[in-house]
Amino acid sequence: MTSRRLVVLLFLIITTDSPCFADIKKRLMLESSSSVSTTTGVPTDKLCEECTLCKCRPHDLLDFACSSIIATDNYHFCENFICMHPITCSRDTSPTTKTTTTTTTPRLPVTCNKTSLIEAVAVNRPVTHPLVSPCSNPYYSPPEALTIKHCALPLASGWTKGQKVVDFCHTNGTLPYTPISTFSHGHHEEISGVFLHCTDKGGFKMIAQSCTATPSVMDINTAHDSPYHVQDFHFIII
Ligand SMILES: *[C@@H]1O[C@H](CO)[C@@H](O)[C@H](O)[C@H]1NC(C)=O
Ligand SMILES: *[C@@H]1O[C@H](CO)[C@@H](O)[C@H](O)[C@H]1NC(C)=O
Repeated sequence: MTSRRLVVLLFLIITTDSPCFADIKKRLMLESSSSVSTTTGVPTDKLCEECTLCKCRPHDLLDFACSSIIATDNYHFCENFICMHPITCSRDTSPTTKTTTTTTTPRLPVTCNKTSLIEAVAVNRPVTHPLVSPCSNPYYSPPEALTIKHCALPLASGWTKGQKVVDFCHTNGTLPYTPISTFSHGHHEEISGVFLHCTDKGGFKMIAQSCTATPSVMDINTAHDSPYHVQDFHFIII
């Protein structure tokens, strides 16, 4: 390979991978001390405040650029992984309008019930839910029943696709007992479960059940014998 080709290849790798780079950079900012400034000159301890203003105020009222901190459709990233708490627009953060203050519904990172999930795996019986239609083999129960019941989620039609699980794993983050699902064209499909932790095989472990398996810990990895495709999983936000 000529050096010119190598340069072009490297350029392609870096540009196609840039969202991932940005995630890592943000994560590092979160973990570094609060005196460190970000590339936009915003001290890290100010990020939550700025995320809140970006979410709650019209951007033209602000004296800084929101897009340099958060891409428009990436509010959830900001809330879940930088601020680590949901952003609620209040009287202090919303612009006062003639009528009333605007409140937007925050997209919450959901935490599942660890105790009841461990029980479900130990008891090893399918978890049913009255609003989830049964499997063709009536002994088993679909994945969504377990996720909805133990994470207090709405039905799968109300789930929104959050950050990709493997991208999150690249940031060395931990979010145990949060719900995840495979998504296709923005909608839940095939399997959902509860994220446990990332593995060093480029995948992660989750608790899930399916129409052929009782609640158990599943290893999702890049190997051919992995029951599901590791790249299809995202965190569920509501
Ligand atoms: C979690 O599950 C346990 C065991 O089923 C139950 O006792 C507890 O109340 C649940 N916690 C919440 C917050 O629902
Ligand atoms: C994650 O951890 C690995 C191993 O400790 C380290 O090499 C890597 O730089 C870390 N990545 C981030 C984004 O912190």
